[in-house]
Amino acid sequence: MAQVSLVNISKIYPPNIRAVNNVNLNIENKEFLVLVGPSGCGKSTTLRMVAGLEDITEGKIYIGDRIVNDIPAKDRNIAMVFQSYALYPHMTVFENMAFGLKLRRYPKSEIKKRVKETADILSIAHLLDRRPRELSGGERQRVAVGRAIVRKPMVFLFDEPLSNLDAKLRVQMRTEINKLHQRILSTMIYVTHDQVEAMTMGNRIAVMRDGIIQQVADPMTIYDKPVNKFVAGFIGSPPMNFMRGRIIKPDGHIYFNEGRFKVKIVDSMRGSLMPHVDKEIVLGIRSEDIYDKLFVSQAPPENVITVTCEVVEPMGSEVFLHLTTGKHSFIARVGAHNRPEVNQDMDLVFDMNKVHFFDTETEKTII
Ligand SMILES: Nc1ncnc2c1ncn2[C@@H]1O[C@H](COP(=O)(O)OP(=O)(O)OP(=O)(O)O)[C@@H](O)[C@H]1O
Ligand SMILES: [Mg+2]
Repeated sequence: MAQVSLVNISKIYPPNIRAVNNVNLNIENKEFLVLVGPSGCGKSTTLRMVAGLEDITEGKIYIGDRIVNDIPAKDRNIAMVFQSYALYPHMTVFENMAFGLKLRRYPKSEIKKRVKETADILSIAHLLDRRPRELSGGERQRVAVGRAIVRKPMVFLFDEPLSNLDAKLRVQMRTEINKLHQRILSTMIYVTHDQVEAMTMGNRIAVMRDGIIQQVADPMTIYDKPVNKFVAGFIGSPPMNFMRGRIIKPDGHIYFNEGRFKVKIVDSMRGSLMPHVDKEIVLGIRSEDIYDKLFVSQAPPENVITVTCEVVEPMGSEVFLHLTTGKHSFIARVGAHNRPEVNQDMDLVFDMNKVHFFDTETEKTII
């Protein structure tokens, strides 16, 4: 059993930098948890405390049912793959992978067996006699992962292991690591600042900001039900569009009034928004929930808004429209063949069942 629990974990660097702030996180046995957040938010520090490479200022870390705070890194039964995973340049791939086992005085036959098995899993069996400089970036990355797997650790820690690879290789390795997890089913904690990696790799995602965990949930919950504006804006590409405005109630109905346009709130959101009537609020809408009115049959007239299209960005399978209301700029994602005129007004439809609302002060999700 290799469940990992962080209980009230904080890290304070001298003189008084709170890099990690009271983190509570439970990673189940065999779970793949992705820790994601912007640069400097405390991801590596958290991972390094789990690995035993960094002292824990406050709190307790459990691996299985053992508190590991005072257990040295080498006795934690953990393997870590770093962003800069320096392989030993003078050793062959085989020797690189065997090195950790040799240090631990495993018998030669066992070392050979494990390296062979691991090389098969990672499709690098044909490279065992080469040296690192004779490998491509992706192959080197696989050797680095292999070096971690041969030890059969209880827990794998990955710290941005793909960030040195080019875009295509990164996508490929992402799939490889996913497959690897399905095959060896170890507990994995994977750190990245790339929200696409987070969405596609983990069983669950923990979103971190300024040393504080904002939300822990499965990828779709994070995407559909973000707890605050930060999570809503961080996960998703292009990011969620935000517009500041007011909730108004001119007749029996309530509306969001941006200043240049207003849209009608759906009945299911009415209860949550009534306390905000005549107050400022932030509306959030994802780019895929905005449509060109020309392509919508029977658009409800109260959800139609007129904006100016400033840039049309064809992406191949879809088109990004950069739009402005005069007060706010935002992006809509429409079909590949939708090419509105630039610098002309166009009518859009908001899917009002999909919009989010956030408190202007606390930035917490209202609905
Ligand atoms: N040894 C140190 N001494 C003082 N401050 C540190 C030290 N290491 C990290 N920090 C600070 O702690 C905070 C968290 O750093 P950390 O490396 O955990 O961030 P990160 O989320 O991994 O960022 P990145 O995505 O850039 O790798 C940062 O503000 C950083 O400047
Ligand atoms: Mg880091």
